[in-house]
Amino acid sequence: MYKEPFGVKLDFETGIIENAKKLVRKLSDMKGYFLDEQAWKELVEKEDPVVYEVYAIEQEEKDGDLNFATTVLYPGKVGKEFFFTKGHYHAKADRAEIYFALKGRGGMLLQTPEGKAKFIEMVPGTVVYVPPYWAHRTVNTGNEPFIFLAVYPADAGHDYGTIKEKGFSKIVVEEDGKVVVKDNPKWKE
Ligand code: 6PG
Ligand code: NI
Repeated sequence: MYKEPFGVKLDFETGIIENAKKLVRKLSDMKGYFLDEQAWKELVEKEDPVVYEVYAIEQEEKDGDLNFATTVLYPGKVGKEFFFTKGHYHAKADRAEIYFALKGRGGMLLQTPEGKAKFIEMVPGTVVYVPPYWAHRTVNTGNEPFIFLAVYPADAGHDYGTIKEKGFSKIVVEEDGKVVVKDNPKWKE
């Protein structure tokens, strides 16, 4: 009837949560996500780097319950574009989420189904509120791992399809040594 409460240790330096389920996303898992397809192919053939790892403590998909996970997003670029997470809407689209930045620097791209986009910078201590219905993707704009904790409803789920197919309306690139958020020339409405 009652579930058992627990506490776990989150290592702020590595992002690892003890006893969590680990997921690894390599660059080869992200075909079609980056703007510069040639640069993507070359980097995959050369070293196929790990782009990010997720350490998740998840419950059954029931309303009212909560999941949490850290993400360790590595520094790097494909062409001019900074490494990012795939990005998703929640499968139950009205489920909100909270992110808490722990280490490194980066930001979050958010977007409504109509393509209204917003970029929010994240440094250690930044808490980001992801409202219902907004797709979200994190971007590492620094040169060390960008680590954050996310807390989300256990029944939120992930809808990757829409973003995989259409992308975000904005991209985050390095130009003249600066972080620039600009329109995605490949964005499809
Ligand atoms: C979630 C969170 C977060 C996210 C990871 C990896 O809903 O579970 O937003 O834990 O899943 O940062 O990003 P992608 O799920 O977009 O690959
Ligand atoms: Ni999410």
